[in-house]
Amino acid sequence: MKSLWNTKEAKKCGDDPLAQRVYTSRLIGAEPDLVLHGGGNTSVKASVRNIFGDDEEILYVKGSGWNLETIEREGFAPVRLDVLRRMAELPELSDTDMVSMQRSAMIDPNAPAPSVEAILHAIIPFRFVDHTHADAVVTLTNSPNGMERIVEIYGERVFVVPYVMPGFVLAKEIYEMSRDANWQEIEAMILLGHGVFTFHDDARASYERMIEIVTAAENYLEKHARIDRGKKNTAAPPPEIDLTGLASLRREISECAGTALTARLDSGPAAVHFSLRNDVRDIATRGPLTPDHIIRTRRSALIVGPDIVADVLAWAEDYRGYFDRNTNGELTCLDPAPRWAVWRGMGTIALGPGDRAAGIVADIVAHTVTAIERAEALGGWRALDEADLFDVEYWELEQAKLAGAGEREVLEGHVALVTGAASGIGRSCVEQLLALGACVGALDVNPEIQHRFPQTGVIGIECDVTDPDDVAGAVDEVVYRFGGLDILVSNAGIFPTSETIAEMDAENWDRSLSVNLSGHRNILQKCLPYLELGIDPAVVMVGSKNVAAPGPGVGAYSVAKAGLTQLARIAALEFAPLGIRVNVIHPSDVFDTGIWSDEVLESRAAQYGMTVEEYRTRNLLGVEIESSDVAALVGAMAGPLFSRTTGAQVSIDGGNERTI
Ligand code: NAI
Repeated sequence: MKSLWNTKEAKKCGDDPLAQRVYTSRLIGAEPDLVLHGGGNTSVKASVRNIFGDDEEILYVKGSGWNLETIEREGFAPVRLDVLRRMAELPELSDTDMVSMQRSAMIDPNAPAPSVEAILHAIIPFRFVDHTHADAVVTLTNSPNGMERIVEIYGERVFVVPYVMPGFVLAKEIYEMSRDANWQEIEAMILLGHGVFTFHDDARASYERMIEIVTAAENYLEKHARIDRGKKNTAAPPPEIDLTGLASLRREISECAGTALTARLDSGPAAVHFSLRNDVRDIATRGPLTPDHIIRTRRSALIVGPDIVADVLAWAEDYRGYFDRNTNGELTCLDPAPRWAVWRGMGTIALGPGDRAAGIVADIVAHTVTAIERAEALGGWRALDEADLFDVEYWELEQAKLAGAGEREVLEGHVALVTGAASGIGRSCVEQLLALGACVGALDVNPEIQHRFPQTGVIGIECDVTDPDDVAGAVDEVVYRFGGLDILVSNAGIFPTSETIAEMDAENWDRSLSVNLSGHRNILQKCLPYLELGIDPAVVMVGSKNVAAPGPGVGAYSVAKAGLTQLARIAALEFAPLGIRVNVIHPSDVFDTGIWSDEVLESRAAQYGMTVEEYRTRNLLGVEIESSDVAALVGAMAGPLFSRTTGAQVSIDGGNERTI
């Protein structure tokens, strides 16, 4: 492990202890082998003058909800040090009371809640305290003779604490154990099965010690437990991946969870290698790397065999057994569904309610797999025992974190695909579906699609819907990336040059039918097997007012859109037994789109003897229709509001006497 310390950068912090704290916290957060996604915590003790002119000793400790990698000054909760130290002397205290006492001892009521390890930080008699869950150290403590190995590597300079559940009990235990310790001779504290603390009065020294302690553990592992970590993963689905198998697995697990989850398959060499181990069923089910991963990963992986349904049910049964064995009778069982799986020969799968959540699980799984293999090379991977893990999984504070996650968005965990997504209505649909919580595959013939959406949970794929091979590749990529497909918005379209039948150009006609009709068939056909395995699957086809109210000169367009509508009606009939809804929307005059340039708008308005403003609202309601209005309707049609509707055609045109 390399120190990321940069003297020039550090100098910018001057003598400000909190600025120094922010700087080295970020250095720690930048190294995923030290902390992952909100893990770890840091603190600094400083003297602050209050409004009465008195100096108070304050512990600035990482606030909950902040990641070390991106933490700011406001991410540190300022807590009165004397209160925290006195709390350590209490004979007992519930964790809920501890949290509220910590909160009430803050000098800024608007700061985030202090870390649950605040008392522990307070009793360590140094200004700077750094705490990580370093993979290498935890790997060592999770292997046979872990304690002896730690002593062998570090000797007397490290204080070793047996596993105790985080929270007040841990702080109390360390308080008692360390009362007589000679802190000046201790360089670090290692908590078995949990992590490492380093400390010093100087920010750099505390950070560098962390690097040094972890590097020593990494060197030991390199020497005694070397494993091949494999090459870099690729973005495209390897040809041998069974994508319908992946979609089935995601659906079964989502059903078991009672909520839609997205799935991220890691089919890189390291994951595939792990999945092919003969002992994988044994080693992947012993427990997580550190107990604080459990709320994201659950206790064990699902090992996927040939019968996916039976495997998921058996896992759920096993989870209920684990709950029944460990509950005190007052707890409610969480949904009995796994959050990661090992798929023989295919790799590992991480699941979560959305792409961000699944990505966090995927990162944790990648680190866990490496740690398991290394610990196996040392003689055997060990996790905490079941009861200890249960205590953390059902710990009041961990459960509060889950409850605090807030209301789920209506399409959270769902996967959508939108064609013609680079512009106009399609682009708005992507944004709307993302806002509703879905992950989105955004397809367009325009190569700019690849960079159109910077948000997480969306992938832009260049794809011409008239080319069946392009369509097949793009749909597979979406399924590979998010684990399945639930929503199709078939929107891509072109508006050909106006021509009467007499003057019609065959090429224009063919082109319109190819994009505006056959393109929809291509995408519908390719998506069908995945939609069949989707969660509340729905298709929305984008038609046009021209279907019911054609105009002279738009034959190539109107005929294709009428064909598309008929295709959707047949799809509604054919797909209903599969549970897939198919509905059509008919927009009209949506001007903030690519097919309406300023010139076209002006010439049309002139044609009708209107100003542009009058032309924009020439409908019964006298309203303007924007692509975001159309996207809102699409979002509703893809969601539960329209769960009992199929084969419907809904206009979004402000009302038109020719279609009413
Ligand atoms: P737009 O031009 O802004 O968007 C259409 C998108 O489809 C573009 O990004 C384009 O690159 C893409 N596209 C074209 N051919 C493609 C192909 N072969 N493969 C993949 N992508 C392709 O236009 P707008 O208005 O957003 O159009 C969306 C849909 O709405 C179309 O089906 C259109 O017929 C329909 N519509 C639009 C109305 C309007 O007033 N804007 C009215 C009625 C229907």
